Amino acid sequence: KDHRLARISSSIRIIPDFPKPGIMFQDITTLLLDHKAFRDTIDIFVERYREKNISVVAGIEARGFIFGPPIALAIGAKFVPMRKPKKLPGEVISEEYALEYGTDKMEMHVGAVQSGDRALVIDDLIATGGTLCAAVRLLERAGADVVECACVIELPELKGREKLGHRSVFVLVKG
Ligand code: PRP
Ligand code: MG
Repeated sequence: KDHRLARISSSIRIIPDFPKPGIMFQDITTLLLDHKAFRDTIDIFVERYREKNISVVAGIEARGFIFGPPIALAIGAKFVPMRKPKKLPGEVISEEYALEYGTDKMEMHVGAVQSGDRALVIDDLIATGGTLCAAVRLLERAGADVVECACVIELPELKGREKLGHRSVFVLVKG
């Protein structure tokens, strides 16, 4: 077992009752304060994906914007931001996804991803899997092959993996 995972795991702070009562919030800002844990996090992803012919790293707003770019630079892939609605200035395609109450939208620039691209999706956390699913749908609509989704943390009780179907999900720690 990777000795680095214990440090990564203990660097993540859990804040009870945020943003509302009953939610145990997994706060990765404390991981970012520990430069060794942050470095190890990026290294583990880079080691896994550097020989996989990934051409695009798709980072999900907001915390996928922290982990995605260093991975993209290290493996020599383009970085594509998957954003909340009305943030991207160019022409977009969008996908709705379910939240606990209601729905939200995710958008991606037309032309950022092409058919034949090999995509890696990055976010901080998989809970119900709805967010990653929306990102996968956008990439697949643009013709990309989604090689894998990768997150720092998984909340396994919420069974987010099941929503992703046959697509593989790689995580570092379970919350
Ligand atoms: C959180 C988290 C993931 C998503 C996971 O983001 O950062 O992106 O929820 O949830 P799911 O697997 O149930 O879809 P949030 O929607 O709170 O937005 P933020 O990252 O912009 O704060
Ligand atoms: Mg998020």
